[in-house]
Amino acid sequence: MTMAELSALNEQFALHDQLVFREGPGGLGICEITNGHAVASVALQGAQLLSWIPRGEQPVIWLSRDARFEVGRSIRGGVPVCWPWFGPHATQPSFPAHGFVRTVPWRVCETKILEDGATFVAFRVTRTDTTDVFWPHTVELELAVKVGVTLEFDLVTRNTGSESITIGEALHSYFSVGDVRHIAVEGLEGCVYIDKLDSGKRKQQSGPVVFDAETDRIYLDASAECLINDPRMQRRIRIVKSGSRSTVVWNPWVDKAERMGDMGENGYLNMVCVESANAADDVVTIAPGDEHHLRVSYRLESLAGKRAP
Ligand code: BG6
Repeated sequence: MTMAELSALNEQFALHDQLVFREGPGGLGICEITNGHAVASVALQGAQLLSWIPRGEQPVIWLSRDARFEVGRSIRGGVPVCWPWFGPHATQPSFPAHGFVRTVPWRVCETKILEDGATFVAFRVTRTDTTDVFWPHTVELELAVKVGVTLEFDLVTRNTGSESITIGEALHSYFSVGDVRHIAVEGLEGCVYIDKLDSGKRKQQSGPVVFDAETDRIYLDASAECLINDPRMQRRIRIVKSGSRSTVVWNPWVDKAERMGDMGENGYLNMVCVESANAADDVVTIAPGDEHHLRVSYRLESLAGKRAP
């Protein structure tokens, strides 16, 4: 991103004392937010949130120590946006995993300070010649982010074309945890999941999800809220969502993390992905003129049930 582009962005969208655009590692444009509730940053590439730190707390979102910041490459950690398919493309193995919007530049379309002192910023991506190679449909994709006591996302797909479209999607959130071997994810009890590590077999979850090996699952028809209980950090993360019927739970564990090369030494121990998604059986069809919202909110709480001070 050039200095001229950054200055133009700041002129149009910077918010006094709360939101500024600057150049980040690898020359990527970064939107930095600071308010009375939290600090956060979002890369303009992919509209990828990179950090959210409520005041007085440890980071809630995990970003790899070895994350690579490069044009056209997804950054390991944060909240990548997967769209319009989740995982590998159904028929084209050469197409990028998790769709194409996480590696293209998004436009800023609105910034504002909300009444409660939270900060709002919205990003958009529209059809271009580059995206047409992968997905030739007329749509508008918007990600609205609210940074406050909670972190909130609204991923809106507007079908502005004349044919129905079917999308898979996910807010691929990486959460920071004290030690993944000691956390428990609640809220998926009884759900059927696709076990991607066991030939896609369908299984049923019993009890909370705990981690002692590589885990890669798509929970279906899973709209309920989830809690990540983290006794080591004496906190839990509450995930509340709407317009999302799947929840993806992922940790690469040691061998896959080593193969990936950008997870950082033992990084897998300090993260878990709990992704609010529409994937596999839960993909969404949107009629011409209609729109679909995937909304999610994250809140940090102490294990006693109150927000940590
Ligand atoms: C998860 C998938 O959502 O993302 C995993 O379920 C995948 O299968 C992981 O390995 C990371 O994907 P990527 O493309 O960011 O390395």
